[in-house]
Amino acid sequence: MTMREVAVTAELPGRAVEWLEERCLVRLNAGVQITDENTLIDFIGSADAVLTLLANPVTDRVLAACPDLRVVGNCAVGFDNIDLVAARRRGVWVTNTPDVLTEATADLTWGLILAVTRRLGEAERFLRDGRFHGWALDMLLGSGIQGRQLGVVGFGRIGRAVARRAAGFGMSVAASDVDEHANPDPPARFMALDELLASSHVVTLHTPLNEGTRHLLDEERLRLMPRGAFLVNTARGPLVDEAALVRVLEDGHLGGAGLDVFEMEPAVHPGLLEREDVVLLPHVGSATEETRAAMAELAATNILAVLAGEEPPTPVVRPTDH
Ligand code: GLV
Repeated sequence: MTMREVAVTAELPGRAVEWLEERCLVRLNAGVQITDENTLIDFIGSADAVLTLLANPVTDRVLAACPDLRVVGNCAVGFDNIDLVAARRRGVWVTNTPDVLTEATADLTWGLILAVTRRLGEAERFLRDGRFHGWALDMLLGSGIQGRQLGVVGFGRIGRAVARRAAGFGMSVAASDVDEHANPDPPARFMALDELLASSHVVTLHTPLNEGTRHLLDEERLRLMPRGAFLVNTARGPLVDEAALVRVLEDGHLGGAGLDVFEMEPAVHPGLLEREDVVLLPHVGSATEETRAAMAELAATNILAVLAGEEPPTPVVRPTDH
């Protein structure tokens, strides 16, 4: 029997490559990230499987040009870089890496909530600039969060993990997509999105990006938020109209924003870069040694399962789905 071929678009942490090499022929891209269709098509070639990162555009054109492909194992929980409809139509499995990154991403979200409400980035720049001349009662005052409402948009695995941590900071939780009559765990008050935005001190986004959620927070919705409120996004940049966010920050409506993701990633709106009231991170939500190794290993496990004719642990699209 000929060995199955797996194209891996980037070097991986943990034992993922080792596991793949035990049973397959592995082709590894050790060069620059593949961000365009043609390079991706050339790289996949006649491989049976591809292990992708979220910068790799797995479009219908790519799938059409790589007819031997049986599985796309995305090393991310999000899968907006993959055309799921085309994959389904072409009988290609798509898998992702949920669960293993939930806690790390929730921790980072709280890092951003604290950083933006307590002005940590600005305070560190202040000190490094040599402007700290001693403790002062009125220096770099932030906003308290205790007793305030955290609005969680997207009450899935990560949203719930973020909400669980809210009790430790004395915040109540509102969520826009829990069943009004259910008893959510952790506890959260159901609110329609607009009501949630209008009543939360901090709004945090944890919903997947798709055509229905693109610019979910447009200017009108951003202006529903109370004056001085904060927006945190560790999900996907295009959930927020970034130009509108800049305007809403510029006129002082919002207190600040903590962003780990951007609309035109890796580009960041210049209007954000110059502001002191935003905290900007380079998409590091799941970036711990342990979590990144677990993600790569889960992506490899998914691929190996499909190639062995088994059900992968975390499928997004099964070729039998209609
Ligand atoms: C990262 O953004 C992921 O989707 O895992």
